[in-house]
Amino acid sequence: MRLARDMLAWFFMPKRFLFGAERTANLRVPTFETLCFIDEPDEVASVHKATGSVLLGGAGNAFLTPLLRDQSAFTLDGDRHKLARRIAGKWLTARAMQDSQPIIDAIIQQELDNWQAAGRRDIGDWSRWLTMRILCKITLGIEDQARVRRIYKRFEAATGYTANIVTYTKRFWAPRGIISTGHFVEFLVKRIDRELDQIIADGRAHLQNAPAENVLHGLIEAQQEHGYDNAFIRDNIAAILAAGYDTTGSALSWTMFWLARYTDKTADPEAFRSEVLRYCPPVEILPRRIAEHALEDACEIAPSIVSVASTSGDAGPLVCPCVHRVHHNPALYPDPERFEPNRFANQKAGSPDTYMPFGAGGRMCLGINLGKLVLDRTIALIWERNLQVQTNLRRFNPIRRNVSIWPGFVFRGRLQPAQNKEG
Ligand code: HEM
Repeated sequence: MRLARDMLAWFFMPKRFLFGAERTANLRVPTFETLCFIDEPDEVASVHKATGSVLLGGAGNAFLTPLLRDQSAFTLDGDRHKLARRIAGKWLTARAMQDSQPIIDAIIQQELDNWQAAGRRDIGDWSRWLTMRILCKITLGIEDQARVRRIYKRFEAATGYTANIVTYTKRFWAPRGIISTGHFVEFLVKRIDRELDQIIADGRAHLQNAPAENVLHGLIEAQQEHGYDNAFIRDNIAAILAAGYDTTGSALSWTMFWLARYTDKTADPEAFRSEVLRYCPPVEILPRRIAEHALEDACEIAPSIVSVASTSGDAGPLVCPCVHRVHHNPALYPDPERFEPNRFANQKAGSPDTYMPFGAGGRMCLGINLGKLVLDRTIALIWERNLQVQTNLRRFNPIRRNVSIWPGFVFRGRLQPAQNKEG
């Protein structure tokens, strides 16, 4: 009974694993893995250090393979992982993103106008759509909204709430006959593939007579030198779109939740964003698979593993630094349940051992500069235009949507001119 309750909670409403006193050390999800949660700062630091050798992020992300397959920056380990990061990362630097700010601002302005004109809207949908528009433009050079809408719909179909069950049920990851869940998942992913194939073909055509301008072109251009196949390009484009729109969409939704409550517009947008991502990070765990034959080493690195080592199968548990728990540790953040952007007013967010909304080390989010910029510019533009967000939720009730955490199942709101300058 308890097992079923835990499983359901993990699949859809994982709040009690993230916040509060009931901090289970481990969780067995029979359809998936035994999860070993790591939240002690020293242990988190050791796990980060061992990631890439004793602990593997790519193997830990295997649950993303139905959509991202096995050659994306997410699902790879070792040299190929470094290669994917190097090629894509070159186009996503802080400098490159700053240069793109006017384009990003223009898209945000348009979507703020659209939201204002529409009245009450589904904030999650607004956030994901805005992010998808920006990602398509910045990473693929696509701005035709009808085309972005088609890409958006294809990803929405494969990453909504029903994807939670597929993600955490291993037997659904591959087709098992024509009327299996895996077969249906494959059908949805093939529809995405058709879009991606055309995007790659267009990228090749562009490179016939123009220089590379974005991640897509960079991946195509480097193909011959590194000898990877088209699937490598496809998987990394899929990763950037899926990871980028889901996480930034969630972060934007949380931003709206807090903008509706926190009306001190003298706060700095960056400090506000840092506090949103501390309080409500979109991704709750950083899953690491123990490398083959390395269980003993892993137990030394993270003693928390010892208690579940013998009951979690040959591969051992999935080792999971727990982002929310670290961010709500009162020893690291005094009065952690208070939303207070001024914590970050005079200091940048800390080291990845204590602040990790974007992950850590060699697996640190590749889109960190783009994600931060989208959030900072959205906050700044809402404040500059003296707008006020109003939402249906007074309290949040974290809900999982595929692999990210959102403020609530029904989260709607308006964007209106503020009543007065102080809001
Ligand atoms: C606020 C927005 C975002 C948040 C909170 C976020 C969060 C994360 C987290 C927690 C990870 C896992 C890191 C780890 O395992 O240690 C990650 C990885 C990744 N993210 Fe983001 N992300 C955001 C935006 C983006 C964007 C916009 C892109 C694409 C442009 C992107 C692309 C990636 C990729 C490719 C990885 C895999 C890195 C690897 O495993 O080497 N993310 N992100």
